[in-house]
Amino acid sequence: MTIANPTYSTKSSRYGAEALREAALLIRAGEPVAVPTETVYGLAADATDSHAVAAIYSAKGRPSFNPLIVHVADLAMARSLADFSSVAEMLATRFWPGPLTLVLPVRADSGLSPLVTAGLPTVALRLPAHPAMRSLIRESGRPLAAPSANRSGSISPTRADHVLASLNGKVRLILDEGPTSEGLESTIAAPEADRVRLLRPGPVTAAMLEEATGLPVMTGKDNAKIEAPGQLESHYAPSKPVRLNALRAESDEYLIGFGLMPCHINLSPEADLREAGANLFAALHIADASAAARIAVAPIPAEGIGAAINDRLKRAAA
Ligand code: TXA
Ligand code: MG
Repeated sequence: MTIANPTYSTKSSRYGAEALREAALLIRAGEPVAVPTETVYGLAADATDSHAVAAIYSAKGRPSFNPLIVHVADLAMARSLADFSSVAEMLATRFWPGPLTLVLPVRADSGLSPLVTAGLPTVALRLPAHPAMRSLIRESGRPLAAPSANRSGSISPTRADHVLASLNGKVRLILDEGPTSEGLESTIAAPEADRVRLLRPGPVTAAMLEEATGLPVMTGKDNAKIEAPGQLESHYAPSKPVRLNALRAESDEYLIGFGLMPCHINLSPEADLREAGANLFAALHIADASAAARIAVAPIPAEGIGAAINDRLKRAAA
């Protein structure tokens, strides 16, 4: 008999050899484990085991039409799962390990659970830079499917305590390795022969993709039909209303600032977009937990990684 909605006592362990061994044992037993990457914490499970992948969907309350990113430890593992065109090779060489996910044709002999791709002929692959995720893939010997480690639709976790607040009782183990460095989910791109489709803006910007390939990068509504299915209009959503482009706080608002300005918390007093990206989700978590009834956010310039920040804010406010 299987228990539909099991609850566990959730343990948070500082990342290290001992915790890693424990995590790998859980992965091999078909259980999800929360693990840091350089972008956000992921809820990882064996991508070749349908029961394990189903456990991710159930812990997150995620709709099963929304496919997962598969994380690999090296290029050889990536090549065993998907077909790499020359443009894909170019992007992998330039940006891996790092915060870029490539959507590529899945190989017939990949061994991946069909739940991972949600029936699509493509798979989203990422070679992360963070040692915890890479070591866990190596130690468990499996490619790991991992969405962000939060309840579906809510704010992504950039710290172990964000994971605990969202998934307490839904996961046995959280590997804690402090705040993540990028703070925003990976860029998702689908390389084609003559262009690159940008499916989700992230730390690797459109300009960087263009520079690396010499090809035009299609963004936003040009991709309407094959936009990442998880890019729902409302996402990353706090429990409170969010007002964007706010220059000052109303009396019932918690204001998240940018650059020198009066506010309750500042993403980057020096107006540094990378710093703002790294702090964004933690600020939303804090604003959500504050006594204020509503959240307001200062205008963020849309250049560079600002495009990804504005993408997340638009969905948080939707
Ligand atoms: O930074 C990240 O990418 C984090 C860390 C944990 O690696 N992961 C992450 O996963 O953000 P998740 O599940 O929250 O977002 C995955 C996105 C979804 O929007 C999904 O629809 C899209 O990737 N996706 C997955 N497979 C796809 C495919 N074959 N084609 C198009 N989009 C795909
Ligand atoms: Mg997510």
